[in-house]
Amino acid sequence: MRVAVLGAGTMGSTYVQNLAKMKDVQPAGVCDIRREAAGQAAELWGTNAYESLEAMVERERPDVVCVCVPTFLHKEYVLKLAAMGKHVICEKPIALHREDAEAMIRACREAGVRLYIGHVLRFFPSYKDLRVKATSGIVGTVQVAHAKRLSAFPKGWNRWFADASLSGGVIVDLMIHDLDFLRWTMGDVQSVYAKLHKDDHMEYANVTLQFQSGALANVEAFWGYPGAFTTGAELAGTRGVLRFDSSSSPTLEVRRLRREEDGREGSGVPVPRTPAKHDPYYYELRHFLSCIAGESEPVITAEDGYAALDIALAAVQSASTGLPVRMGGVLA
Ligand SMILES: NC(=O)c1ccc[n+]([C@@H]2O[C@H](COP(=O)([O-])OP(=O)(O)OC[C@H]3O[C@@H](n4cnc5c(N)ncnc54)[C@H](O)[C@@H]3O)[C@@H](O)[C@H]2O)c1
Repeated sequence: MRVAVLGAGTMGSTYVQNLAKMKDVQPAGVCDIRREAAGQAAELWGTNAYESLEAMVERERPDVVCVCVPTFLHKEYVLKLAAMGKHVICEKPIALHREDAEAMIRACREAGVRLYIGHVLRFFPSYKDLRVKATSGIVGTVQVAHAKRLSAFPKGWNRWFADASLSGGVIVDLMIHDLDFLRWTMGDVQSVYAKLHKDDHMEYANVTLQFQSGALANVEAFWGYPGAFTTGAELAGTRGVLRFDSSSSPTLEVRRLRREEDGREGSGVPVPRTPAKHDPYYYELRHFLSCIAGESEPVITAEDGYAALDIALAAVQSASTGLPVRMGGVLA
């Protein structure tokens, strides 16, 4: 399969580093308006650098193009690629607006090309394990969840993250990872309530989700956190708790109440995980390429990317009005 990468910033270079490890993938160009960035990534991957998508596609004839440009450009480029008949792997969030995401999904469907959105948490061993354990019933029915994602303020090209009209802000850009994970694990969301605090140096959001099942989740996202990138999740069920915290341990721990089994309360069952051989972006790309080759069924669809955006935009709306938002409209 011939694969090209559009955008050679943080994510574009991460994609190139991982694609370069796949011997069955043929490099088909790297494109960036910054010639030097495209050149560095292209050299690492043994391919050509371009400043224009059209020139790259015409010369390299890729089957798949990975869209790693800033979010406000996703729609424009995905529509172009659909019109060119190219399969697309696009970074999250799918877009900034629901109408844009819909247009992208429709254009790819009508053109007969695949569109996959890089919600990479679905490929992190710790989050995958959390979901498997949560849905297996090992801690009973999960009724309350907490998730957090704390990061330094992202800089990026031209400081585009700091402008919410370009990045969507901390909820649409960062928290969306956990919103997708929680929806994947706990089902559809019924209502959303959010608080957002921001100044020139930070953005902090705290969002409460009520799921259709009646379960609740509290989700935090922070840009401007004065420490190492930290993520965590805790899922509390009727018979125990599952928790993961990147700052304390790279492993997943299951602590299960054993009342029914042996009458002892509170004995722990630690489940250590060894670090994976590749990083999650590798597994994500491998999976999407295998789906495009018709060898796998996708664990995440473009519609899932739309659903995550839908929740994130409801949270943004709630933060600006101070009112809870029922999915599909404002709560009466
Ligand atoms: N999945 C994740 O963990 C993760 C992490 C970070 C960012 N992202 C997402 O990835 C996307 C890119 O983010 P990033 O951190 O790599 O940004 P970045 O600013 O580091 O890189 C963006 C690159 O796009 C280039 N660019 C800008 N306009 C262009 C154009 N018209 N044509 C070609 N290239 C152009 C810039 O020169 C820059 O090199 C965003 O949607 C972001 O939300 C995802």
